[in-house]
Amino acid sequence: MNAYLKHDEPVTENFLDQTGQNIVGQPVKRIDGLAKVTGSAPFAAEYRLADRVEGVLVQATITKGEIARIDASEALTMPGVITLIEDHRLCTRAAQGGLGEAPQQSPRQVCYWGQPIALIVAETLEQARDAAKKVKVEYRAEDGAPLDPNAVEAEEQEDESVDQGDFAKAMADAAHSVDCTITTAGHASAAMEPHAAVADWDGKRLTVRAALQMLNYNIAELADALELEEDQVRILAPYVGGGFGSKLGVSPEVVAASLAAIELGRPLRVVMTRQQVFQTIMRRSETTQRLRLACDANGKLTAFGHEALVSNLPGEQFAEPVLQSSHFLYAAPNRRLKLDVARIHRMTAGSVRAPGEAVGMPALEAAMDELAQQAGIDPVEFRLMNIPERNPEEDLPFSSHKLAECLKQGADAFGWEHGVRTPRQTREGEWWIGTGIASAARVHNVGEAKAQVTVRPDGSVIVRTDMTDIGTGTYTILAQLAAEMLGVPVERVLVELGDTAFPRGPGSGGSWGAASIGSAVFLACKELRETLEERSGQSFDTLDLSETLGNADLSCEGHYEPGAAQDDYTASGFGAFFAEVRVNRFTGEVRVSRMLGAFGFGRVLNEKTARSQCIGGITWSIGVALTEALMFDPRDGHLVNPDLAEYHVPVNRDVPDLNVIMIEERDPVASPIQAKGIGELGMCGGAAAIANAIYHACGARLYDYPMTPDRVLAALDAAEG
Ligand code: MOS
Repeated sequence: MNAYLKHDEPVTENFLDQTGQNIVGQPVKRIDGLAKVTGSAPFAAEYRLADRVEGVLVQATITKGEIARIDASEALTMPGVITLIEDHRLCTRAAQGGLGEAPQQSPRQVCYWGQPIALIVAETLEQARDAAKKVKVEYRAEDGAPLDPNAVEAEEQEDESVDQGDFAKAMADAAHSVDCTITTAGHASAAMEPHAAVADWDGKRLTVRAALQMLNYNIAELADALELEEDQVRILAPYVGGGFGSKLGVSPEVVAASLAAIELGRPLRVVMTRQQVFQTIMRRSETTQRLRLACDANGKLTAFGHEALVSNLPGEQFAEPVLQSSHFLYAAPNRRLKLDVARIHRMTAGSVRAPGEAVGMPALEAAMDELAQQAGIDPVEFRLMNIPERNPEEDLPFSSHKLAECLKQGADAFGWEHGVRTPRQTREGEWWIGTGIASAARVHNVGEAKAQVTVRPDGSVIVRTDMTDIGTGTYTILAQLAAEMLGVPVERVLVELGDTAFPRGPGSGGSWGAASIGSAVFLACKELRETLEERSGQSFDTLDLSETLGNADLSCEGHYEPGAAQDDYTASGFGAFFAEVRVNRFTGEVRVSRMLGAFGFGRVLNEKTARSQCIGGITWSIGVALTEALMFDPRDGHLVNPDLAEYHVPVNRDVPDLNVIMIEERDPVASPIQAKGIGELGMCGGAAAIANAIYHACGARLYDYPMTPDRVLAALDAAEG
């Protein structure tokens, strides 16, 4: 049995509201929570297979060039060492996922320092790790590989370019304008679970347990990399310890483990060290952004200019989509947007949590603050004045739009002091105190999704899909949806995820998971209800399940596909951030003392897991604003802070109590269950609320994220003249 929907028309019927249980939206505890905290929810590296051996990746120590020779003669004599696998497919770059094809490169070519080039296999991890250090590699290195994005000629991404109206004239004629250049640092996903894969080849078929976000695409990428058919490959990832983009596509450990398992005929595990994850998995590009904004005497935006420079390796398709929400967030008739990519040799750049808005919004919203101040308008009011009726570039309607509500309700809940921002109003001892705001925006995405739902005569329900739960709450929301639709308690729903043997879901990425796979489960359940009603001749609420089923299970595969509805509207999550910071006038230290986010992102499926996503996002915002930066050696481009000791993610002491407000919203275009993406919105602009609060506190405008004490001190000195 099948239930298919192509989303060509908005789904305005609130079917989920009519089923009567009111389970969807409730803050149901994670149904996988007990297994997680008791250690019985295994991550990839924890699977134990008899006779399993260990592989350790050997990495390049040049920036660019070719491998001339790999000499493993000494390594191969060491205890327990089995073999060295040298295969250019090991160099498979971490893909974006969704390509269905692993990015290939020519054999033996090195494109960045740290690139995996070989795998040493031994009986134990310690033996393999020890031997890996004794592998000697001779290179034909090419000198002068470009490493500095500002020192090369960049390529314009033509499809991102916008030139509307007369931008130059609007800038020149404006009552108020800003022209500033803001930089953001490169970021690492830094998921808690390091990348790992356990591969097992039975002579015909490969089974891989791995840390991946999007199995539907990963199976195609892996089959492609190994030159196997998809039906020879099975990937399992029922539990994943965070992804944030780093596990979107197959990465070197998955290909390496698979190649070696096939070659040796023994199960094999490759676990990356924390440093290897940092060095070989996609980085977020650093950005340089020029913001030119202008408004009339009343504060109406007349010119909107946002131009960004990002970087990636030569040949890579991905360019950090910095301008994604800038295209529609604010009205202004004269617009200039441009995105350039510099080709440099610092790791592969790719998707890291909220690609685009995570860095684009902090720059835009800091510039907006400066313009509001110049125009003498309260920054909340300034944003309210410039919310467009329709997408200003494409003249499309918005599917739903709660930015104004978020700004107003957020301001009330935070206790925002309305008025023009004058710095240095509040001091406590060494600390200047100030508040700031920023808008949040993040495009909404959905993807094709399939899930099977089975109703059993005993009243239990099984949901199966290869969709992943990377810590976000997929297990729980799918159980809630099935329970709601089929009139059973959540405890009667078994959810099985992360197995390519199940119907293919959309994977976890771009905040599209819940809305997409939730819709597939919804469609299957709706069809099951209708079938059972037909069979029994009774309404769903009164029919006897075991009698109607006659002792046989009934299954339906729900299949959801995005359609024309999405093309006819601009769909985005919106929100507002409010921050209070304390800036130490002697050390330049910044502490966030309060922060609030108000978000409108369609139907909330689980209030608890949604809130957790928001809190996680705001925490990332603090990282972007104050602590996180990838640092590369200017001589060879190697990452010099490849671990959590040197790459500073905010820790408990850096994060105050965070307040989250979720604005009631249903979006008939976003998905059939009227939910939008939630995960990433919480970090799309929050860093600017902190930057703006720093200015309000101490009068120093900073233009470089993260705003570390050295930079704050320098800006304070400049502000004091
Ligand atoms: Mo996300 S960065 O698309 O996992």
